[in-house]
Amino acid sequence: MTNPVINPSVGLLPVEGGYIAFDPACDRLHEMNAIGALIAELCDGSRNVEEIRALAGPLMPGGSTTEIDRWIVEGIEAGMLVWGNGAAARPRELSASELSDLAEKLSGSDKAETAFQCSKRVTELTPDDPDAWYALGCAAQATNHRDEARRAYERYLENRAEDATIRHLLIALRDEAPPPRASDECVLQSFKNFSSHYDTKMRDSLSYQAPERLNDLIRSEIGDAAGLEILDIGCGTGLAGACLKERAARMVGIDLSPEMIEFARERGIYDRLEVAEITGWLDQTRADFDLIVACDCLVYFGDLHRVAELAAKRLKPQGWFAFTTERGERYPFHLTDSGRFTHHPDHIREVAATAGLIVARLEDGFLRMERGVEVTGLLALLKKPGLRTC
Ligand SMILES: C[S@@+](CC[C@H](N)C(=O)[O-])C[C@H]1O[C@@H](n2cnc3c(N)ncnc32)[C@H](O)[C@@H]1O
Repeated sequence: MTNPVINPSVGLLPVEGGYIAFDPACDRLHEMNAIGALIAELCDGSRNVEEIRALAGPLMPGGSTTEIDRWIVEGIEAGMLVWGNGAAARPRELSASELSDLAEKLSGSDKAETAFQCSKRVTELTPDDPDAWYALGCAAQATNHRDEARRAYERYLENRAEDATIRHLLIALRDEAPPPRASDECVLQSFKNFSSHYDTKMRDSLSYQAPERLNDLIRSEIGDAAGLEILDIGCGTGLAGACLKERAARMVGIDLSPEMIEFARERGIYDRLEVAEITGWLDQTRADFDLIVACDCLVYFGDLHRVAELAAKRLKPQGWFAFTTERGERYPFHLTDSGRFTHHPDHIREVAATAGLIVARLEDGFLRMERGVEVTGLLALLKKPGLRTC
């Protein structure tokens, strides 16, 4: 038995410049460059090592067969090759379900590009499956294949037009003019799915620090002042509220997502929680606050004028509006491919001036990680002038 052959449990996927080989039986992935792919093709069970050397040797750098021998030995050790009985065998292609399992497993790892290749092949094998196009859109975004991501989401939307989150992402990916803020439908759908693992994902996977950084910013101006009437807009599950609780005489939380509000309720830190859209709620309430906080929430708003003006009206004299946004270089704001807006610091200054608020602090700060890169935020603390009435 001297004829190496691709292990029948291994499936292959031809990609540009080589092959991806995966053995679902032992969950093992092999990636082959062009030389590996050539040797693998010759390892079809009909040739012995001598014959493979004779055929591939002249194509090897310097005509050396050492690389061929090494490749075959390592292939056998890794279980990708086995010794056959002389019968020729065509290697099998990875199926759509094997490829989508593999893509899912590799997504978020340092093999994101391989995941993208697998997802791409899945859409070729199952072009009528919207979930395959969705997975390709995500894999393409993760690997900065922007045009592929746009095309994949467009195909997905042909069957899933009701997906407001992807409709919103496509506005960015098509470089269209953004809406004033992410639609209610988009926010509702995004956080419905996200709510159950929001805290773990943000804290453990993304090292989310915005609540602590915002609290530090507030402390830098008002120290440990407590007994405050606090409004937490876009309160989510209450991560920011938890940092502010010890300052509060009373704390109100507002969020559009009923699922996020339910998690906030379980935390037991709010005196009142309401499922409501921020600008609508601020417009109709008569309550006044010492501190209004928007932690990682105004990233769903483009132009911040309206929300700042409404917040300013609901602040007591000498009250504070504290918020985070993602810092962007494009003035005044920009809808990024993540579906979130970034803001230029000058926009914050202008918004504060129009709302009659004083910029007490406007600083850069670490918010969280995204795909291994630090997200820099703007931490803003605006103050309402005026005399407090007793
Ligand atoms: C990234 S989460 C932040 C939650 C929380 N503040 C924190 O720091 O963990 C953003 C929240 O803003 C809410 N949100 C976004 N736009 C909103 C709007 N226009 N009205 C009400 N809530 C909104 C979402 O439902 C979501 O719960």
